[in-house]
Amino acid sequence: MPDHRLTTFDLRLSTKKYYLCPNKRMDIKEAIDKARLPQHVAIIMDGNGRWAKEQGKLRVFGHQNGVAAVRDTVEGAVEIGIKYLTLYAFSTENWNRPRLEVSALMELLVNTINKETKTLMDNGVKLRAIGNLPQLPTKCYNRLHEAMEKTANNTNCTLTLALSYSARWEITEAARQLAQAVQSGRVRPEDIDETLFAQHLATKDIPDPELMIRTSGEQRISNYLLWQLAYAELYFTDKLWPAFRRQDLFEAIMAYQKRERRFGLTSEQLVKPQKKPFNKN
Ligand code: FPP
Repeated sequence: MPDHRLTTFDLRLSTKKYYLCPNKRMDIKEAIDKARLPQHVAIIMDGNGRWAKEQGKLRVFGHQNGVAAVRDTVEGAVEIGIKYLTLYAFSTENWNRPRLEVSALMELLVNTINKETKTLMDNGVKLRAIGNLPQLPTKCYNRLHEAMEKTANNTNCTLTLALSYSARWEITEAARQLAQAVQSGRVRPEDIDETLFAQHLATKDIPDPELMIRTSGEQRISNYLLWQLAYAELYFTDKLWPAFRRQDLFEAIMAYQKRERRFGLTSEQLVKPQKKPFNKN
């Protein structure tokens, strides 16, 4: 069992982070308690533009290098056994970016899907997407569907790309569908509860994320999975997305495992009932 009272230190000449145990140095991956992994990790990949600026390059260079971070993070998630990974790849609001940046991002998406479907197959990853997908350029929409079909039977991990997505759009869509169901007599208003509502969200067949990571030092949710993140632990890192790697994912998971998830209960209520001590009499 890993020791959760570990302290971290950075090894000067190495990019790897190690955990200092009383008698041994432990790779952060080994320090993760595999029995308490979040099932679902959601990520806001932020900071591509700032990373490119730091390199003296155009914003699109940041997006291009963001692909390597996506690949490494997906592989890292599979490596430790995360079953669901959801990435905010393009928000509804992102359509308002300069036209050239939007088309570069769409082209990058098509190229990445073409190139990385093999990586997904090799890692047993099933690809899916949430969002207002018909808004995507036809080529992008078609490639996405081809890759989703190809990877449909993979079972190691489900990778969901949020594309042309915003949580308010998703919640409004769910409300509309339910209103139509009531109007047509299929649903009674008194039948609408959280379970039925969640069944009308784009994420209806996957569990809610227990951990949400945002890169680049910004501490906002930005219209991402607002319903589903109700009880998620939020983890913010200063790393800019193109520099993010699986070690950073593992660090976020270690931080998650050190937190106490209470779901509105008190700490005392969470303590498992102790076995009665052996009665000698
Ligand atoms: C946010 O950084 C990032 C995006 C809007 C796009 C995310 C896209 C990728 C990581 C590329 C490929 C992804 C896939 C899934 C193929 P920003 O541009 O807002 O950065 P800034 O805040 O520094 O300006």
